[in-house]
Amino acid sequence: MAKNVVVIGSQWGDEGKGKIVDWLAEECSGVVRFQGGHNAGHTLVVGGKKTILRLIPSGILHENLDCFIGSGVVVSPEALLAEIDELNAAGVKNVEGRLKIAPTCPLILPYHIALDKAREASKGDKKIGTTGRGIGPAYEDKVARRAIRAVDLFDTEKIAEKIKANVALYNVQLEHLHGAEPIRYEDIMETINGFKDRILPMIHDVSRTLYEKGQKGERLLFEGAQGTLLDIDYGTYPYVTSSNCSAGAAAPGAGVPPHMLHYVLGIVKAYTTRVGSGPFPTELFDEIGAGLAERGNEFGSVTGRARRCGWFDAAALKRSIQVNGISGMCITKLDVMDGIEEIKICTGYEFDGKQVDILPCGADAVAKCVPVYETMPGWKESTFGIKTYGQLPQNAKNYLKRIEEICGAPIAIISTGPERDETILVQHPFAD
Ligand code: GDP
Ligand code: IMO
Ligand code: MG
Repeated sequence: MAKNVVVIGSQWGDEGKGKIVDWLAEECSGVVRFQGGHNAGHTLVVGGKKTILRLIPSGILHENLDCFIGSGVVVSPEALLAEIDELNAAGVKNVEGRLKIAPTCPLILPYHIALDKAREASKGDKKIGTTGRGIGPAYEDKVARRAIRAVDLFDTEKIAEKIKANVALYNVQLEHLHGAEPIRYEDIMETINGFKDRILPMIHDVSRTLYEKGQKGERLLFEGAQGTLLDIDYGTYPYVTSSNCSAGAAAPGAGVPPHMLHYVLGIVKAYTTRVGSGPFPTELFDEIGAGLAERGNEFGSVTGRARRCGWFDAAALKRSIQVNGISGMCITKLDVMDGIEEIKICTGYEFDGKQVDILPCGADAVAKCVPVYETMPGWKESTFGIKTYGQLPQNAKNYLKRIEEICGAPIAIISTGPERDETILVQHPFAD
């Protein structure tokens, strides 16, 4: 039986999911995004050429591959069209023809973005540090059953009614709670009329096509965004995103039955980063942290914000392995650890006078966690671009082995550089 693979972020996002999805996409017949929105920034580097994808699945550079946006994704049509235009300009073929959007996707409209920004501004130093893309308000509308969905674009009269009600509601919040500028119904309708004709042909019964591909034995790749520690339920709430970013979300988010999710590949950075506010037990404020940020080029691909850096947190990864049922790990950015004399791994925490070996859920509990470290010797040699396991320095192998031991999951792939082929294959996730 063909194996479908779910790729998820195992930490606080930006683990290198895009690079690995692009690499794995070679072997499959479709790539599906199942949650998040254009808060994601997935970087692909092929032949020295960098592509940053926000909403479009990271399989799009493979010429004949179909790419799907499932119902769990909140879609900004304006951001999507801008991204398509960028890919067209870069010479990627037939993007619009290969991209299929589920009719049930909730749309992100300008009032979501206005409210996201106004709320963050009102919160001052308690702000979440969102990407300001309207993600939270769009998911709120979905759950409150007032979202405008992709399918609604077929009936502009009905949309007009819904938009009127939504504008009234949003203006109460914008003006009276946040002292922000109100939004105008006419402007929203103009925006919708501006993108409608290009979006309509891409609307497609994604759930049905994925099911049929499954029946035919074709391989599918499910692409997660963000990371498990940003998951709305199991992350550092409220400093999280507004969707479930864990593997199970791939089923409802793509519209496939859970038995179609065969293998969960957890993407794991060889150290830890976080962008935005919220507790981060292993965060480094010294020159080692600054070195990771510099060598790892740790600046957000969406907002350009500097990412906070810290030691590898095996106790946080344990939570991620349990929540996702990670079948295999892909360790990325191993090369960024080159040249560190002594490496620390967090194996647990002191928490309320007790020792715990797994990250608790929720920001208040995580803020109380004081990391307990074990120390290992680092390596001086460069691992950058290494493509076979045997060529890795012994201390790098020891580091990887120790991560496997503490976390209790096997390593399937190791990434040693941003390029597609700067990758070491240990056990192929698609192999039977
Ligand atoms: P994503 O959101 O999980 O797809 O990750 P991002 O693309 O936001 O961030 C990962 C960054 O690290 C990108 O700039 C990648 O090009 C880069 N990258 C990915 N894998 C590696 C690696 O193994 N080594 C190095 N040095 N960079 C990598
Ligand atoms: P990828 O897919 C890293 C963070 C934001 C903020 C919090 C909530 O590239 O890994 P939101 O705009 O979602 O309401 O912001 O989540 N965040 C990410 N951090 N990588 C991402 O995506 C992120 N998407 C959202 O910085 O802290
Ligand atoms: Mg990213």
